[in-house]
Amino acid sequence: ARRPRVLSGIQPTADSFHLGNYLGAVRNWVAMQDTHDAFYCVVDLHAITMGHDPEALRNRSRISAAQLLALGLDPERCTLFVQSHVPEHAQLGWVLSCITGFGEAGRMVQFKDKSTKAGQDSTSVGLFTYPILQAADILLYQADQVPVGEDQRQHLELTRDLAQRFNTRFGKTFTVPSPYIVKDTAKILDLQDPAIKMSKSASSPNGIIELLDDPARSAKKIKSAVTDTGREILYDEENKPGVSNLLTIYAALTGRAIDELLEAYDGRGYGDLKKDLAEVLLEFVKPIQERTRLYLDDPGQLDKVLAVGAEKARAVAATTLASAYRNVGF
Ligand code: ADP
Ligand code: NA
Repeated sequence: ARRPRVLSGIQPTADSFHLGNYLGAVRNWVAMQDTHDAFYCVVDLHAITMGHDPEALRNRSRISAAQLLALGLDPERCTLFVQSHVPEHAQLGWVLSCITGFGEAGRMVQFKDKSTKAGQDSTSVGLFTYPILQAADILLYQADQVPVGEDQRQHLELTRDLAQRFNTRFGKTFTVPSPYIVKDTAKILDLQDPAIKMSKSASSPNGIIELLDDPARSAKKIKSAVTDTGREILYDEENKPGVSNLLTIYAALTGRAIDELLEAYDGRGYGDLKKDLAEVLLEFVKPIQERTRLYLDDPGQLDKVLAVGAEKARAVAATTLASAYRNVGF
């Protein structure tokens, strides 16, 4: 049987992925290479909705791609590309924006959050239509499945509505994608404030572990992670979110079960756990940093990989766009 096709994207909005990006998303991307016909893109079009610096964006797109390769994406087993290299995204985005209701787009919670924070004068129309472009990203590839976290559910629902609406009005054109719920997705929490998720927009730089950061700095952050006043190492998300978060990270990076870790740390203190986790992290990031560096030091090779990816992506995207254009009357 044909493997289900999956589409997922990541924004090039930071100089390094953080541990949450890897354990919550990219790690699953790597696994899905073996179970899915996988399309992954660095969504640079989405990275300009809130204001940006051109040179930083260019660098971050390359660093993102290099990290994805270093983390285990294999261009032989997936299609990895940069969104702006495939002009069909913006082209289909326009068509879809013309079948989206203004009120419908206005109901997107993420837009409301972000625009409230930014204020009306610095809120772009692009931020408003962003979920429509995201629908185009998905529908262009006739994706069967899209991995979604809680924050993206509403956007996928819009994508499904738009696909159905287009198919009904203009004839069957798009596959209606289903959410792909990944079982072992770890939600990684902020090391300084385990009430919130680890995020690049975190309030304290000490709350976030960046894969490309100096490992000595990351070790320090782990050692100063907020735990609680107790002493026992227990997995208890509600009462011991800090320690539980460290255990989650430890288990995810080593492939060991939480129960096994609890047994190994029975009778030992938080200090031991943190010291060992810092070691584990060092061993994990070392080869990733080396491989990322290799890709970045050979820009010609990275360009080639991304050009091949864009070509593979375009072959599919152009076919879908042609049929969408034909059906809509162009
Ligand atoms: P950030 O929240 O830092 O801005 P993004 O929104 O760019 O990160 O997220 C990119 C991907 O990483 C998404 O698939 C998202 O679900 C995942 N992700 C981000 N933060 C975490 C986290 N703390 N734990 C698990 N997954 C996360
Ligand atoms: Na986010």
